[in-house]
Amino acid sequence: MTFGGMWAELAPVGRDAATGGYHRFAWTPTDAVLREWFRAEAQRRSLDVTTDRAGNLWAWTADPDAAVAAGRPGLVLGSHLDSVPDGGAFDGPLGVVSAFAALDLLRARGTEPRRPLAIACFADEEGARFGIACAGSRLLTGALDADRARSLTDAGGVSMAEALAAAGHDPRSLGRDEETLRRIGGYLELHVEQGRGLAHARDGRGAAVGVADAIWPHGRWLLDLRGRADHAGTTRLADRDDPVLTLAGVVTRARSAAERHGAVATVGRVLVHPNGVNAIPSRVTAWLDARGPEESAVRAVVADVADAAGTAPDEESWTPSTVFDPALRDRLAALLAGPDGAPAPVLPTAAGHDAGVLAAAGIPSGMLFVRNPTGTSHSPEEHAEEADCLAGVSALARAVEALA
Ligand code: GLV
Ligand code: MN
Ligand code: MN
Repeated sequence: MTFGGMWAELAPVGRDAATGGYHRFAWTPTDAVLREWFRAEAQRRSLDVTTDRAGNLWAWTADPDAAVAAGRPGLVLGSHLDSVPDGGAFDGPLGVVSAFAALDLLRARGTEPRRPLAIACFADEEGARFGIACAGSRLLTGALDADRARSLTDAGGVSMAEALAAAGHDPRSLGRDEETLRRIGGYLELHVEQGRGLAHARDGRGAAVGVADAIWPHGRWLLDLRGRADHAGTTRLADRDDPVLTLAGVVTRARSAAERHGAVATVGRVLVHPNGVNAIPSRVTAWLDARGPEESAVRAVVADVADAAGTAPDEESWTPSTVFDPALRDRLAALLAGPDGAPAPVLPTAAGHDAGVLAAAGIPSGMLFVRNPTGTSHSPEEHAEEADCLAGVSALARAVEALA
């Protein structure tokens, strides 16, 4: 199956016909279709698929444990297949499809890597359903506590434990997975770029592929704003206790604080109760996503938001900054040099990735980015040209030849 063939097979799965965006949430029937697709692609290539304790999928070219015993643990390529609500086609799937295509390219060239390769599909990377991004890799490494994960609930009150069980994965198995971790000698994730760094690289001439440098520290906070329900017509303004007014203050304060501290802050999800046009709300639940070049900048934004909210937000997740292994980063940049010999562009990002979680757990990890002409991501408008995607596949294959 070619890159284009795989892409065409995935295209309709979880796609909203009205917006063109994707709704691919962890442990749903749509997710099961995606996981089945992954297994079928692995089977086509005679790869052995294993599922780890967190439900992440691994498709191995050879026995990973024999390689561990021989002191040469495998090299893993991969990404994720889930999406944010109304997400783009590329964030995640590009890395998985490119990994399969890179393996095909290596095999067509007769390249025999000296250690096994695996293609990984991480579960629940976006955290769109249960609120914790990179849940699969955090569970794998122990960065997310299994009891906490099991008790997280989705918007409909379904717990992660119930969702896992309904999808056929035993929730009791969650927990740091030493056996899987031992098998990972290195991890490379190819991802669509989520900014315009590559489009503007090389003095505006652009570059199809770049290398990740670092991930900004970031986190998610929940705000529970209480008020008093009342009639929208008969309650005098002076008598109201309207939590949406507090929310308005929170949103504008998040923006101004982010500007002041060189950070970014977003209130992208809000629930208003009871959500009636002619009723003053009694309660607002809102989520803040804040990121910055340093932890201190992010903490300063959150402190300002707490001040505007009149209450301390509850930290749902925190991801410290990731600096990818500089030696691996520089090696990748040199390997992927342009025709003029200039190394591939090296870029930081404010987006979170499983590669960051693995790097934090001490696994040598790196990332390749593929040019996104507008930089738009987490949106149906997310895009990469096919020629750039194929350049990404070829870059990934080159990286494997050098590293495996
Ligand atoms: C994941 O894509 C994130 O950065 O939120
Ligand atoms: Mn994403
Ligand atoms: Mn992603």
